[in-house]
Amino acid sequence: MKESSLDMAGYDTIFVGFPIWATDVPQAVLSFLNQYDLSGKTVIPFCTHDGYGAGNSYESIREASHVDSVKEGIAIEAKDVPGAQDVVQEWLDRIQIADVNTDNTSEDSTATEDMPIQIVIDDKILEGVLYNSSLAEEFKEKLPITVSMSGYGGREYYGGIDFTPLNAENGQLNFENGDITYCSTNNTMAIFYAQTDRPNLTMEVIPIGKVTSDLAVFDTFSGNEEITFQAVK
Ligand SMILES: Cc1cc2nc3c(=O)[nH]c(=O)nc-3n(C[C@H](O)[C@H](O)[C@H](O)COP(=O)(O)O)c2cc1C
Repeated sequence: MKESSLDMAGYDTIFVGFPIWATDVPQAVLSFLNQYDLSGKTVIPFCTHDGYGAGNSYESIREASHVDSVKEGIAIEAKDVPGAQDVVQEWLDRIQIADVNTDNTSEDSTATEDMPIQIVIDDKILEGVLYNSSLAEEFKEKLPITVSMSGYGGREYYGGIDFTPLNAENGQLNFENGDITYCSTNNTMAIFYAQTDRPNLTMEVIPIGKVTSDLAVFDTFSGNEEITFQAVK
């Protein structure tokens, strides 16, 4: 095997791209990852395939790179690659990676700032943002949104919403503290506030925003709260 000697110390975020082979990551890519200590870094997989999707690859990437959490990856069918710029940009917006389009004069560049919001719970007002993904845009149009939310597992508040968003694609089974998510399985919103170290969810969620103020207040809430997401006045 050819040894590689990249200086990973200078990078916090590492994109790992590969073709899907046998519904998984080619062994050569896993051997490459095994040579490095990527703990504490963010690893983001992206792959091409011939119609069968990402398979086990994100899990294999997580194991080989020894990181706790792997960000939501993207899987693109090889024949769709030439026209994939928009879906790639939407994915990058969703996972909060700045516009990769180095041509700043590009007219179709849609990247703008995240939208600041307030999250009102009891007499507390938390700060947050909604992202620029097409899914998050659907929530922005509905603001203010009030959801009866229940505490679950000491890690999240969740509750059903009264509309059904259309752009619910590419969910993930992990979260980061502060994530505001949508789950299409049961049409709920959630706010995750603890236990990023145990990231395994049983239902896929899609991050649409983030609480940016102190999350410790969630421990003080009653377990059943009316939570309002509203534009900053
Ligand atoms: C050995 C081998 C195994 C493959 N296994 C799969 C598979 O399990 N599922 C799938 O959708 N595509 C599979 N493919 C298709 C590749 O994923 C596809 O050709 C590749 O993503 C295209 O990218 P490339 O041009 O960089 O190779 C396989 C291809 C090869 C060569």
